[in-house]
Amino acid sequence: MNALPYDFTALPNARQASESEKWNQYPSDTIPMWVADSDYAVAPEITAALQQRLQHPVLGYGKTSEKLKKLIVERAAQKYHWQIKPEWICFIPGVVGGLNIARAIMGEPGSQAITAKPVYPHLINGAPLLGQGMQFYPMLNQQTKNQKWRYTPDFEALKATLTAQTRMLMICNPHNPVGTVYHADELANFAAIAEANDLLICSDDIHADFVLDTEAVYRPIASLSPAVSQRTITLMAASKTFNIAGLNCAFAIIENPDIRTAFVSQVKGLVGGVNILGLIATEAAYEYGDDWHQAQLTHLRENAHYCYARINAMPLLSMNALEATYLAWVDASKLNALLASQPIKDAYHYLLHYKVAVSNGEAFGVPSFIRLNLATDRATLQAGLDRIEAAVMALMNGADEQLT
Ligand SMILES: Cc1ncc(COP(=O)(O)O)c(C=O)c1O
Repeated sequence: MNALPYDFTALPNARQASESEKWNQYPSDTIPMWVADSDYAVAPEITAALQQRLQHPVLGYGKTSEKLKKLIVERAAQKYHWQIKPEWICFIPGVVGGLNIARAIMGEPGSQAITAKPVYPHLINGAPLLGQGMQFYPMLNQQTKNQKWRYTPDFEALKATLTAQTRMLMICNPHNPVGTVYHADELANFAAIAEANDLLICSDDIHADFVLDTEAVYRPIASLSPAVSQRTITLMAASKTFNIAGLNCAFAIIENPDIRTAFVSQVKGLVGGVNILGLIATEAAYEYGDDWHQAQLTHLRENAHYCYARINAMPLLSMNALEATYLAWVDASKLNALLASQPIKDAYHYLLHYKVAVSNGEAFGVPSFIRLNLATDRATLQAGLDRIEAAVMALMNGADEQLT
């Protein structure tokens, strides 16, 4: 049995009463398997650091400590074999804000950024607000030499889509929602395309610490070479890793001084300052949280295997084994095809009837898929999958009275 402080099998009760977006968006009898927010109590060291800080009664604007920067530098070296310097680190209240600052500094209105489809929606959503455009390349589901299926970028389509207006390549590594951890040769392909076309690279690496496949290795694209680092903005945070996303603290790592100056000059105005408690929590997480994080990874690997077996045993649904993230990208195209003749036309709305809230693939650019959040205890995951299975079987058997 797990030692109590690191128990990922017993969830804190009553998240509905904790101002949780995940648990309050849908009716209370619906199991939430949507937003990328995990259900685990944070590491006790983080709680202790926050309680200690709250002994002081003033919560004004926060100033980042040199200690936190040092922890980030050491962690990048230890975990990602990436040598960075403290002065390259720029704090921001969230990775999404960082994506939009990158967009704001990449070029004039009318500029284009290119990214994968599907992708986390906020790599796209800000573009029209800034009068900019988005271009897309597909992710191809392909079988590798060792028989695993994984989504890989269609590099030929990427190259063919670029125009004279393309200024930035936006990648998500590991990739939300498909779970791919890019191989070194894929990162080298991205880098070569960026260099040949003089593109800024913005890499959203918020899921870097969720590599579940023990054969996969996460590498930041900026670590490929000094030249790649010079054109790259890497966005990271402790927020997903340590379940502290509500505390709004993230950071960009930017070697190039011109890009960094442009980025920093936009931070206060575009996205505001960093939450003081987020800084405290991030520091405690990086200083003391590694054992907790390793225990979480063990638990997530088990949940991912369980989900993979359950989903692929169901008719109408399928998924790849997860390389990374705690988000399963599930092909629901056969389910949607059967629903086409029903009053409810898509898997997302259909599953809501069975009281399970998943993410709609449409938000990621591919409506025939759904995304499931697995970062919960086994009992909740099992209950969610039971409801999905009941929904699928009812449709298969043509006996779905819930739709009428
Ligand atoms: C790829 C990716 N980037 C960014 C975010 C959100 O980052 P933040 O809360 O720091 O803005 C998420 C959250 O799900 C995500 O999956």
